[in-house]
Amino acid sequence: MIARSWLFVPGDSERKLAKGSDNPADVLILDLEDSVAHERQAVAREMVRAHLKAHADRTRQQLYVRINPLDTDAALLDLAAVMPGAPDGICLPKVKSAAEVNTLANYLCALEAREGLPQGATRILCVATETAASLLTFHTYLDGVSPRLAAMTWGGEDLAAALGASDNRNPANGEYDHPFLMAKSLCLATARAIDVQPVGVVHLNFRDHAGLEADCLRDRRAGFIGKVAIHPDQCEIINRAFTPSPEEMVHARRVVDLFEKDPGLGTVGLDGVMLDMPHLKQARNLLALAEKIHALR
Ligand code: COA
Ligand code: MG
Repeated sequence: MIARSWLFVPGDSERKLAKGSDNPADVLILDLEDSVAHERQAVAREMVRAHLKAHADRTRQQLYVRINPLDTDAALLDLAAVMPGAPDGICLPKVKSAAEVNTLANYLCALEAREGLPQGATRILCVATETAASLLTFHTYLDGVSPRLAAMTWGGEDLAAALGASDNRNPANGEYDHPFLMAKSLCLATARAIDVQPVGVVHLNFRDHAGLEADCLRDRRAGFIGKVAIHPDQCEIINRAFTPSPEEMVHARRVVDLFEKDPGLGTVGLDGVMLDMPHLKQARNLLALAEKIHALR
């Protein structure tokens, strides 16, 4: 699966749930965690289940559900409530290591059996950097993680609280400080190492469209595919930024053609620039990404 925009929608807001359905977001993450007040959790579970059931056709837009952290009593109640709606995936917050992803995968096996859903149908997006421990356990994903894990993203807000930081940004330039940049890099490297989709972090200032676009392009240059969103206006910008442009496609095809015309070629010059195997790989990646995005429609 490939998805560019992943829009969080508070699970207890009828208005926002309706608005999400009309939005170009590739995925909605119906939220039962931080955007829902404690007293509203039971209501939110019912509303999310109803939304899932009312939107059984997921060809244009997939529906994930963010449950509460696995070490809370709410997590199993969340799962039991929403699985009858056959969500495409579960978003797991405040993960400490791959062991929790695997525990969730086991719960999903049982609940899919209960609901008569195909085994393995429910995928997982984990928010991999929201606890202090999570920064020290990325290697556990390489020791074997459930194939349900489809995507991995990171977050700087809960992590700041977990690390005892009063801020996660450098006041001089507004950029993330070191522990947060490390979290970002570890998330990217781990996701790529285990071949799941690395999804970029949310751009919190949802009125700053130029900043969002720049952030998307920076994420894309780094290797992320897609981005988490919190406001409907962000999704079109994200979709555009993560879709290879016609110029990029033309260039990638030229690179691939050059090498394919002459299989003995190891390195070559194009427009005054040296190209070798990593560039061929990048060009092929771009064409493959474009194909997957095209398949979304
Ligand atoms: N999903 C769907 N619809 C949303 C939305 C979202 N995430 N955020 C806002 N909207 C809707 C609003 O309801 C409003 O619709 P309306 O005019 O029909 O009432 C419209 O989009 C414009 O919203 P706006 O007034 O610009 O924003 P706001 O001040 O109402 O809300 C937030 C700002 C941040 C509270 C809101 O965007 C939000 O709830 N975001 C999600 C938060 C979240 O899930 N956080 C957890 C993950 S980090
Ligand atoms: Mg949070």
